[in-house]
Amino acid sequence: MSDLFSKFDPLIEQREDLLSTGLTDPFNLVMERVESPTVAICNGRRTILLGTYNYMGMTFDPDVIAAGKKALDEFGSGTTGSRVLNGTYAGHKACEEALKDFYGMAHAMVFSTGYQANLGIISTIAGKDDYIVLDIDSHASIYDGCALGNAQIVPFRHNDIDALEKRLKRIPEGAGKLVVLEGVYSMLGDIAPLKEMVAVSKANGAMVLVDEAHSMGFIGEHGRGVAEAQGVIDDVDFIIGTFSKSVGTVGGFCVSNHPKFEILRLVCRPYVFTASLPPSVVATAATSIRKLMHGADKRAHLWENSKKLHAGLKALGFTLGTERPQSAIIAVIMPDLETGAAMWEALLKEGLYVNLARPPATPAGMTLLRCSLCAEHSASQVDEILAMFGAAGRATGCI
Ligand SMILES: Cc1ncc(COP(=O)(O)O)c(C=O)c1O
Repeated sequence: MSDLFSKFDPLIEQREDLLSTGLTDPFNLVMERVESPTVAICNGRRTILLGTYNYMGMTFDPDVIAAGKKALDEFGSGTTGSRVLNGTYAGHKACEEALKDFYGMAHAMVFSTGYQANLGIISTIAGKDDYIVLDIDSHASIYDGCALGNAQIVPFRHNDIDALEKRLKRIPEGAGKLVVLEGVYSMLGDIAPLKEMVAVSKANGAMVLVDEAHSMGFIGEHGRGVAEAQGVIDDVDFIIGTFSKSVGTVGGFCVSNHPKFEILRLVCRPYVFTASLPPSVVATAATSIRKLMHGADKRAHLWENSKKLHAGLKALGFTLGTERPQSAIIAVIMPDLETGAAMWEALLKEGLYVNLARPPATPAGMTLLRCSLCAEHSASQVDEILAMFGAAGRATGCI
């Protein structure tokens, strides 16, 4: 019998090598207590959270928590069913109404996660004989959505408008075309040139799907994302998003103005063949989404935080993923995995949690310390964060 696990041997070896140096496992951290969107207790120590994607800090919002408790009391702990059977409660419809109002769109479909939203929408709308043209740095859920369907996959170089156009022009006349883009690319925190890319896609007869997971609530005048900020939201056919970042809970969605959109509820397998979100979750999501509509002050403060952290890290001598801050993600580029892991641990000992990211999740084989800011980080917390980066950077020889 051949051992089906032998394919994991190189990864097991790399992991054992890393941990044999006595390093804390960067992928096994436990939050012993969470005090607020920005502070938790890890290894018995107060730790500032800088890697949670909790951009708008909604997880501890009193109205959000009250809505969740009320729904738990009134509707129970779970639906035990699919959206198309016994799993659609009043709260799921209210959540979809909140999304329609937030985006100003005609249709909204809530999934159990953002991962499933990409999986479901992409695999269902692009079928056999259709083409999906996607940025090579797309999120795993986008690739998995492509893998689940039967369309031809055509990747193009990250954020390269000409490459997108060339790929589109090579597709046979009359074939169905879906261009898949993200507003913010979460590894480096850079944004897409959506204005140009949407125009090129439309000029070449393609439908456009934009994943705004990392921009919802923050980017754009109403927090609708990069497509709103760049003035092309009306030309985007499908927006995918998640509740696991700015909304502060779990779940995913797609919004659209397509007149036939509702048929997807019957044919989209990752929507049909899974249980729906618990009532408490959709209640917290709906409350959070409605509050995010009035989040202009928080958005402004988050931009301040992002600019301050970016400038401070640059001044300390770190190499960053973008020349200027483009989102609430600031990626610090590490020379290799060993140094990245050592720096990650040194930061944790200082009392700071960031995400360690490594291939295959990262582009170009990079090791990154990904920092995601929150609107609830105070200016003095950002000062503390910079002091910790300075101390850890010097201790590990990174700066
Ligand atoms: C771009 C992008 N799309 C989709 C997802 C999936 O979201 P969820 O956590 O709701 O499954 C993520 C999460 O990391 C993401 O970064």
